[in-house]
Amino acid sequence: MVEDGWLEDVRASYETVAESYADKTRDSLGDKPYLRGVLALFADLVHAAGGGPVVDVGCGPGHITAHLHSLDVDAFGIDLSPAMVDIARHDHPDLRFEVGSMTDLQLGDASVAGLLAFWSLIHIPDDAVATVFGHFRRVLRPGGPLLLGFHVGGESHLKTQGYGGHPMHVYVHRRQPDRVAAWLRDAGFTVEAQMLLDPGETHPGAVLFARGV
Ligand SMILES: C[S@@+](CC[C@H](N)C(=O)[O-])C[C@H]1O[C@@H](n2cnc3c(N)ncnc32)[C@H](O)[C@@H]1O
Repeated sequence: MVEDGWLEDVRASYETVAESYADKTRDSLGDKPYLRGVLALFADLVHAAGGGPVVDVGCGPGHITAHLHSLDVDAFGIDLSPAMVDIARHDHPDLRFEVGSMTDLQLGDASVAGLLAFWSLIHIPDDAVATVFGHFRRVLRPGGPLLLGFHVGGESHLKTQGYGGHPMHVYVHRRQPDRVAAWLRDAGFTVEAQMLLDPGETHPGAVLFARGV
């Protein structure tokens, strides 16, 4: 288990911005065709691997979890912020959302058929990534697909406000896909595909598909 002040800072920051983050992202997939395509591919991979429960780690207000459900994926969400989980439960009362941290994932070994972490690993410092990926590997069924989304770059940036000017105190760790892929391999994953989103921007997004071996 990783315990540090940064984790409490991340939790407190997302407690503060939960409502405004939800308002901003709730309907955001509608104008993101590439992300919808990525999620459709992930859903296909889950189905092809036999289906089963899929965890959305750092699910925020649950819109991605719900989108996966619309693709017949049995998805549930886990988030560090109780306020985010309350919003997710309110917005999607038929789905399952729990409070928890990816640094200490309270799920059984090989208990999920797929795992997605979209723009949540960005708040995990380098020295805690191996712990997080160890949990991902442990809870994911062998052969189950893993999908990560993160900001690309080479530096960490302290975010002191966001989502309507609310105070935050979180580091956003931007990383090169090759670096994240190397960490995944070290944790026992095979990296199968990567994609850059908005490659012309200063800070593109990246998605990586991997599989537990
Ligand atoms: C930028 S938001 C992304 C939310 C959602 N995945 C999306 O794509 O819109 C980051 C989310 O990760 C959650 N988070 C950050 N650190 C976490 C951790 N250690 N364990 C679980 N969730 C975490 C935050 O509470 C927040 O809801």
